[in-house]
Amino acid sequence: MLFGRSRNLVGLDIGDSSVKVAELKDLGRGRGYQITKLGWEPLPAEAIVDGAIMDSQLVIETIQRLFQRLRVRNLSVATALYGHSVIVKRISLPTMGEAELAESIHWEAEQYIPFAIEDVNLDYQILEGSSLSGEGNMDVLLAAAKKDKINDYASVISQAGLTPATVDIATFALQNVFEANYEFEPHQVISLVDLGAAVASISVLHGGTSVYWRDINIGGNQYTDAIQKELTLSVDQAEQLKRGEEVDGIPYERVLPILAAVNEDIGAEIQKTLDFFKQISAADEPLDRLYLTGGASQSVHLKEALAERLRTKVEFLNPFRKVPPAGRDVTPELLNEMAPTASVAVGLALRRMGD
Ligand SMILES: Nc1ncnc2c1ncn2[C@@H]1O[C@H](COP(=O)(O)OP(=O)(O)OP(=O)(O)O)[C@@H](O)[C@H]1O
Ligand SMILES: [Mg+2]
Repeated sequence: MLFGRSRNLVGLDIGDSSVKVAELKDLGRGRGYQITKLGWEPLPAEAIVDGAIMDSQLVIETIQRLFQRLRVRNLSVATALYGHSVIVKRISLPTMGEAELAESIHWEAEQYIPFAIEDVNLDYQILEGSSLSGEGNMDVLLAAAKKDKINDYASVISQAGLTPATVDIATFALQNVFEANYEFEPHQVISLVDLGAAVASISVLHGGTSVYWRDINIGGNQYTDAIQKELTLSVDQAEQLKRGEEVDGIPYERVLPILAAVNEDIGAEIQKTLDFFKQISAADEPLDRLYLTGGASQSVHLKEALAERLRTKVEFLNPFRKVPPAGRDVTPELLNEMAPTASVAVGLALRRMGD
């Protein structure tokens, strides 16, 4: 380690409703990780709307406040993009060498990406193992992110005084955090669902390999909107009621059917996405388990509603299952509070410089 600088990156998840930070210590020699810094700050609703930074000053100030409060000294961060500005696909190509692939990937990618190729940053990786489309082919993981979105996020990070070392894709960060905390069985098919305020990242993994990813516009805002409309309340009141807090003597029984209806809407969208995956994939193993994370995963009875609809086991993803706290800063109360919302930040903190 030169000049005491660590190669670790701090995970910075800039979500629609809040900013989360996680810093990990690598114990080395495959002994796993400990969490050294953890925290979050809410963002005003107008700061980021559906993944687009609308008020960069608000975002910059929120990031600065969080880093100061937590006394984070490592200023190299990994952040993630969500949603429609990102496309991740597994494509099949005739087997070819690295050099040949590097030459042809741009041309190949054009068919799969709904944006002009010059407007995106492209990344790809040859997936090990047999191709889903059989002998003579290979599968390539293709990721494309819009340059203007990457620049927007990198720019607020720089203006907050930090170095944006990596801009990842939220769904990959989720897979990282899952791998660090859970074991895979060879033929197990699992789904990871991060239900945030505005966006849900859904992915399917087969025996530890990702086979499908999709970000869709559903999330916790839907519950708040529904309560607000049906009971003519303010956003803040609706938000309180949603979490089971008392507002102006409104009985919780009036809120429950509204929440249940949104659970069904969200369940239907997740089901549609998973059904679509089943149609396009050759694999016909049923889903073994769905791991749920994100703030909106805490919505009342959502877990049960999903289990019933999808006829599968649904479990909350615990990003701290094998990542215990180090030092006094990360209290058991904080871990508990942030277990549903910290997955992406912890997944990002698992990134190394130069990854
Ligand atoms: N206890 C709770 N019950 C129900 N909903 C909750 C609870 N706690 C948080 N939420 C909801 O979770 C959402 C925030 O979750 P999260 O922090 O994962 O989203 P985000 O990362 O800011 O947004 P996105 O990922 O969509 O950009 C909000 O809609 C919030 O109302
Ligand atoms: Mg999020």
